[in-house]
Amino acid sequence: QVKQATNQIVMNCADIDIITASYAPEGDEEVHATGFNYQNEDEKVTLSFPSTLQKGTGTLKIDFVGELNDKMKGFYRSKYTTPTGDTRYAAVTQFEATDARRAFPCWDEPAIKATFDISLVVPKDRVALSNMNVIDRKPYPDDENLVEVKFARTPVMSTYLVAFVVGEYDFVETRSLDGVLVRVYTPVGKAEQGKFALEVAAKTLPFYKDYFNVPYPLPKIDLIAIADFAAGAMENWGLVTYRETALLIDPKNSCSSSRQWVALVVGHELAHQWFGNLVTMEWWTHLWLNEGFASWIEYLCVDHCFPEYDIWTQFVSADYTRAQELDALDNSHPIEVSVGHPAEVDEIFDAISYSKGASVIRMLHDYIGDEDFRKGMNLYLTKFQQKNAATEDLWESLEKASGKPIAAVMNTWTKQMGFPLIYVEAEQQEEDKVLKLVQKKFCASGPYTGEDFPMWMVPISICTSDDPTCAKMQILMDKAELTLVLKDVKPDQWVKLNLGTVGFYRTQYSPDMLESLIPAIKDLSLPPVDRLGLQNDLFSLARAGIISTVEVLKVMEAFVNEPNYTVWSDLSCNLGILSTLLSHTDFYEEIQVFVKDVFSPIGERLGWDPKPGEGHLDALLRGLVLGKLGKAGHKATLEEARRRFKDHVEGKHVLSADLRSPVYVTILKHGDSTTLDTMLKLHKQADMQEEKNRIERVLGAISQPELIQKVLTFALSEEVRPQDTVSVIGGVAGGSKQGRKAAWKFVRDNWEELYNRYQGGFLISRLIKLTVDGFANDKMAAEVKAFFESHPAPSAERTVQQCCENILLNAAWLKRDAENIHQYFLQRKAPPAMV
Ligand code: BES
Ligand code: ZN
Repeated sequence: QVKQATNQIVMNCADIDIITASYAPEGDEEVHATGFNYQNEDEKVTLSFPSTLQKGTGTLKIDFVGELNDKMKGFYRSKYTTPTGDTRYAAVTQFEATDARRAFPCWDEPAIKATFDISLVVPKDRVALSNMNVIDRKPYPDDENLVEVKFARTPVMSTYLVAFVVGEYDFVETRSLDGVLVRVYTPVGKAEQGKFALEVAAKTLPFYKDYFNVPYPLPKIDLIAIADFAAGAMENWGLVTYRETALLIDPKNSCSSSRQWVALVVGHELAHQWFGNLVTMEWWTHLWLNEGFASWIEYLCVDHCFPEYDIWTQFVSADYTRAQELDALDNSHPIEVSVGHPAEVDEIFDAISYSKGASVIRMLHDYIGDEDFRKGMNLYLTKFQQKNAATEDLWESLEKASGKPIAAVMNTWTKQMGFPLIYVEAEQQEEDKVLKLVQKKFCASGPYTGEDFPMWMVPISICTSDDPTCAKMQILMDKAELTLVLKDVKPDQWVKLNLGTVGFYRTQYSPDMLESLIPAIKDLSLPPVDRLGLQNDLFSLARAGIISTVEVLKVMEAFVNEPNYTVWSDLSCNLGILSTLLSHTDFYEEIQVFVKDVFSPIGERLGWDPKPGEGHLDALLRGLVLGKLGKAGHKATLEEARRRFKDHVEGKHVLSADLRSPVYVTILKHGDSTTLDTMLKLHKQADMQEEKNRIERVLGAISQPELIQKVLTFALSEEVRPQDTVSVIGGVAGGSKQGRKAAWKFVRDNWEELYNRYQGGFLISRLIKLTVDGFANDKMAAEVKAFFESHPAPSAERTVQQCCENILLNAAWLKRDAENIHQYFLQRKAPPAMV
C-alpha cells in the first residue's frame, strides 16, 4: 500500500542483487524501477521509480538473486552425511533477528506483519518444508528433475518467523489430542530418535492450548533437526528448527540430561507459537517478553510432562542464579533496553533477556497466583493476537485480571538494571521476633556506594522453623527499610526470607540469624530450593567481599547429608568457580582436597551402578558427583573410571550414556596423548551428534601443552561442526590453567576466521566469555580490553565489558581472600590440637 505519493521505496535487503523491480497499482500498468541504491551498512535498498507512485494499493514485484551462504543465517546451506557416507547439503533458513532480509527483500521488522504465500522449486527427491502445509506439488516445466511445491497462505506474521527447509529427512508423526498434525523430521535412518520429542510435543500442544485457553492456530507443526545450526532452536511458526542435540534422543545412547534438555527446548519453542508468533513484540526492545516468558513457561510445561525431573528447583540453579550473577555487574543492562542496529539486537539475546526475564516472570506468577495469571495471559493473547504488543500491554492485562499494581511493581524490575540485596536482622521481643529489613542494590564489587538509591518493589515472603514450607508473612516491600513483627516466634526458632527462592533478590542475614539456619541445612529441614538459595547467596556475598569466603566454605561443609541433585549441582558449580580462581595460586591442590572431602561421602553412597528404583535425578546426581571426584583426582574414582573406560573402548562393556561424560572427563584430566587419541577416535566413530558433543566438551580437560594445542587445532577442523567450535575452545579455557592461556592465544591468533565464521552473532559473545572470564589479574583485563579495541566485535561489545569487569572482580577477590582460604585449608588438614 502506498500511503503517501512517492517515487522511492525503501526496504531491507542484504547480500542480494536485485535484477528487476516493478510496481503495478491495482488495475493499472506496472512501472519499472530504474535505480537500486544499496545502503549496505543499514542493510537497506532504495528502489527509484521514473514516475510518482500514487496513494493506493498495488503489487510490488522483485526479481533478485541471493546467496545460499554458509554463515548459519538468512538462507544457508547445512552440510550432512548420508547413511552411506556421502556429503550433501540441505538449504535451510534462520531469520531471527534480522536476517530474513538476506533471503528476500522485505520490511524486516517484527511489527510489520504480512501473510506469506510460499512456493519452492526443488529437486524432486528432496523434502521441502515451510511454515504451512503443502497445497500443491507439480513437475517444474523447465526441468524434469525439479518440482514446484506450493504451501498454504500463512496467517498474518512477522518476517523473522518465516522458514523453509530443503533436504533429505525421515520423520515420525502423530496427531496431538487437540487435532494438530505433529511431525519430527530427523536425518535419514534416524526416525526413531524423533520419538521422544514427538511425544513431548504432542503433550505440550494441548497443555498450552489449555493454559492459554487459545488453540494452536495452524493445521500442522513440524520440528526438524538441522545439522549446522547456530542457536539451540528457532520457533518459526509451524516449522521449528533445532540443533540435532536439542531434538534427537536415542533410547540407549542419550543421557538423562539430554532428554531433559530436549523436553525444555521443545517446551520453549512451542510456547513461542503463542507467545511470540501469535502475539509478537512491538520491537526488539521487548525481546525479553518473548524469551523471558518462553524461558519461564518451558519449565511449567516440563513439570507437567515430567514431574519426576523436579525441574523448578533446577530453574533456580540454571536461570535465577545465572541471571543474578550477570545482573550484579556494573555492565549489566535493564531487561528493557533500547536497540537499533542489528548488532545491538544480537547483543540482547543474553542471560538478562532470558534468565532474568524468566525469573521476574516466575516472581510475578507467584505474586499474582496461577488462576489470575492465566486469566491475564488469555486476555493478553486474545486482545493482541496477530498483532504486536509491548511490555506495558502485558502488565495491563495482568493488572486487569488480578487487581494488583502489576505495572508499578514490574517497572522496577524491567526498566532499571540490577536487583536488591536485602539485609535482615532480628530481635526477640518476648514471644515475638521483630525483623528489620533494608534493601540496597546488590553489586558484585561490594557494598553499593552509588549516589542515587535505586529501589525495587519486592514481594517478600518469610517462614520460620515452625513450617519451612509455608509463608508466615507475605508483604510487598516498597521502600528502603521495613520493620516487621513476627508474632509467636520463640527464641530458638529460625527465620528465613525468600521462601522457594522466588523473589529476585539476595539476602544477607545478621550473623545470629545465619548461624541459626545452618542446622536446618544439615538436618534437611529447610527445603532443597531454600538450601540451594541460601548457599548461593552466601557464595555471591563472599565473591563481592561482603562476607569472607572461609565462612562459605564452612557452610558448604554443612551439606554432608545433602541428597538433592540440584543443590549439589549448584554447590559444585560454585566450587568450580572457586577452583578456577585458585588455579591462579600455588595451593590449587588444596582446593581439590576440599572438593574430594565434600563430595566423597555422597560419592560412596551413590556408587557407580544404578540401584533398583532409582530415577532421572539419581542418574544426574551420580554423573555430577563422579565427574567432580574424578576431575579432582579422587583415587578410587579415577581407577574405576579407567577400568570402565578400558572395557568401553574394548567393546567388553559399553558405558551407560549417563556415565560417559564423567568417565571421559576423569580419564582425560589425568590422561596422556594415548588417552586423547582414543577419545578422538571415539569422536570419529560416533554416529550421534550428542556423543560427538559430549566428547568435544571434555577434550579441554587434558593438561599437557602440546595436547592442548592438538585440541585447539581440532576445534577448527572439519571434524567439528561450525557451531560447536565454541564449546571445544571454551572447554580448553575452562579445563586448566595452561588451557586458559592457550585458548586465549588461539582465539587471538585465529580471530579473523572465528569472527568470519559467526559473522558477529551471539556465538562470538559466548566464545569470548568462555575464553577470558577465568582470568584474574588487572593486566589481563587491560589486555582483553585492548585486543577488542583493535578487533571490534560490535555484537559482543557489552560481553567484552562484562568480562573485563569479571576479571577485575576475580583479581580483587584473590587479593582479598586467597591467603585466608589457604590458611583455612591448612588448618582443616592439621590434626586436632591435643588438650
Ligand atoms: N528465538 C530463539 C532462537 C534465537 C536465539 C534466534 C538467538 C536468534 C538468536 C529461540 O526461541 C531460543 O530461545 N532458543 C534457545 C533455546 C531455549 C531452550 C533457551 C537457544 O537457541 O539457545
Ligand atoms: Zn526463545
